[in-house]
Order: sequence, then structure tokens, then C-alpha cells
Amino acid sequence: MSDRTTRRLLGLVALLGLVVAGCASDAPLDTLEPQGGPARSIDGLFNAVWWVATAVFVLVMGAVIYVSWKFRSKRGADGEWDDDEELPGQVHGNTRAEIGWTIAPALILAVLAVPTLAGVFELANWHDDAEVEIEVYGAQWWWEFRYPGTDIVTANTIVFPAGEPIELTMTSYDVIHSFWIPALNGKRDVAPGRTHTWAIEADEPGTYWGQCVEFCGLSHANMRIRAIALPRQEYEDWLTEQQALQPAEGPVADDSYLETVRWAETPLVSPEAAQRGYEVFGQFCASCHVVGGQYEAVAGGIAPLISGHAPDLTHFMTRTGFAANIYDLYEEDGSVNVAELRQWVWRAPEMKGMAPDEMRGMPSFAEQMTREQVDDVVAYLMTLGGEPTLPSGVDLSEADILRRAD
Ligand code: CUA
Repeated sequence: MSDRTTRRLLGLVALLGLVVAGCASDAPLDTLEPQGGPARSIDGLFNAVWWVATAVFVLVMGAVIYVSWKFRSKRGADGEWDDDEELPGQVHGNTRAEIGWTIAPALILAVLAVPTLAGVFELANWHDDAEVEIEVYGAQWWWEFRYPGTDIVTANTIVFPAGEPIELTMTSYDVIHSFWIPALNGKRDVAPGRTHTWAIEADEPGTYWGQCVEFCGLSHANMRIRAIALPRQEYEDWLTEQQALQPAEGPVADDSYLETVRWAETPLVSPEAAQRGYEVFGQFCASCHVVGGQYEAVAGGIAPLISGHAPDLTHFMTRTGFAANIYDLYEEDGSVNVAELRQWVWRAPEMKGMAPDEMRGMPSFAEQMTREQVDDVVAYLMTLGGEPTLPSGVDLSEADILRRAD
């Protein structure tokens, strides 16, 4: 094989590699697999435009290739390049052609504008009949969801009923973010000082993934959204349960509260450890994090962060991930991911890009907390909230909830 052929082959392989890198059979952020009305509307428009664009591409590129081939330089009978070969007829200013290739694209664009504009209005009004409204707040580098009319505040996990439009009112605590759950709708900017309205809708109960899609700093790529659609009745049950799970006033060693907490029976979460953790939490964590009924005074607008907010941990254990869903809170067998949770409390910036010196994100406590104190904080966290919220069909009742790490 000549060097030239080898180079060409290598180039082709590299190109193929790039093309194939864009494919995945089970990608959680696939825009081409709509799972609800708004996303389907976008997908329908995309398909229509895609076929028109493909037709234009094939026609134009076909003409270019045909002309390049037909009028290429040729070798004469003696095998030399024929420099004297006559040029084909040269055309300048053909009025009919000029008018044709001006009008044809204009017509195509005018035709495509009709469903595009209709789609824009349709998506903007999708929430009109929504019965459920959820407030969305973007922050560096996580999401907050609030349920109006209740005290329910979640971080990074949005729970809603399937089979109906959900109205989202969205704003940002700091910089511009963008909210995107590709299976449920397109992107919408989340901007400080403004409130944008948007909708999501899922046909079926299940878990859907979203992501921040406006560059917002160091951990922009680490702002994941876990969207959990539940059957309507299970959603109502979830609301009731979340309302009931407010921690008791005062220290956790109040046995009557610990009795209601599933993880309280496990070795790591003794009432003594949780009590110690409660105090360590008050010393180090409560200046940013809220726990309803226990630590509410400092945060809620005046956390010493640019955003003024850190994730509300009131129902922490009902979530399924932490650190904006970069880490799972539970292992596949249902046990708590104690190892990474412990590491997170201790040295968060090593697990996710943070800029604590700029008051953005969680600092490291490696210098302030002992390993024992970290364990105690984890024990305390495990008393916050009840069952993890998972899509129906996942039954954790038999699972070994706590597996002690190392
Ligand atoms: Cu928030 Cu990117």
C-alpha cells in the first residue's frame, strides 16, 4: 500500500470514528426519542425539516460532484495532461437560473416557517391547562424545585405526575442556566431576575434525564436533572409523604422522631451518632443548607454563596442521587452509597468541580472535620426523609438498605 493510500485510509477511519462517536443505542439525553407531547412536537418538526434539508443536500452535492467529474482535466492520448483542452461553455448572468435559485429557497423557507411558527406558539402555550405547577431555580451547580402551596423543596430531582402537562416557572439564583430534559421538551433559558414559563410532559411513568445546557462555570457539565414521572395517585401519595416527613423540631435524638426513620435501625445511625452529626452539621453545614424544622435560620436567601442558596436537605434520603446527581445515593441492591457520601461531605471539590474561594459551590471540610465527625454527619443525613422516590416497579422493601462502607 502506498503512503498516500495509507493516509487516505487513516483519514477515512478517523472520519468514521467521529461519525460513530455521535451514535449511542441507549443515550439518556437523546433528542430523537420523544417521550411526551412537547418533545414529540419538536421531533415532528425536526423530521420534516430533516427530509427537506436532505433533499436539498443531495441535489446540490449531486450537482457539484457531477459537474466536477464531467468537466475534470483529462490526459491526452500521449498520457500527458491536456493543457490545451477547451473549457466548456462559460455562463454569466443567466436570469432564469438566478431567479430560480433565489425563489426556490425562499419558497422552501416560507413553507417550513408555517409549522415552525405554529410549533413555537404550541410549545409556549403547552402549560395552559396544566393542573400541576412546579417552580424551577437554577444555581451554580445544581437545581432546586419547589412545589407551590406546600413546604416541599427538592434538589436535582423533580417529581411529577405522568400523562399531563406540567407548568414550570423558572428563574436563576445566580447566572444564566438552561433547563433541558430532551425526552420531555426542548431547552429553555433560566435567567436571574426573570421568570420564564415552560412545560414538560411525560406519556408514561419513568425516569428521564436532563442537563444544564447554558455554560455556567466550572461544573456546568455536572448539573443533572433526574425527572421522575409517577402515576397520578402515586404522585399524590408522594406529596402527602413529603409533607409528613418534616423532621421534628430540635435534636434528632428525640427518639419519637428517630423511630419513624428507616435507617435509624442500622449500625451507623445510632441515635448518639445522629445526635453528634446534628451538632457537627449545625457547626459546619447549616450556614448554607436548610433542614426544615431543624436548621432554617441561616440559609433561604442569605447563604454565604453567590447564589444565596444550597440544596435543601429536609428530605435528602428520598432522593436518588447527590451532588446534582453525579453520584447515586443508593447502590443497585438498595444499600446507601455510604462510601461516596462520606467522601462528598469531607472533600466535595475533589468529587465535582467547585469554586469555594469565589463562593460558588461546596468547600472541602478536610481541614475542619475529623473522619469521625464526617461519619456522624452521614449518620445524621441518613435520618432526613423516608423512602427513596423511584419510578414504580422498583421495590426496595426487601433490599438491604444500608451496607457499611469499608
Ligand atoms: Cu448551569 Cu450550565
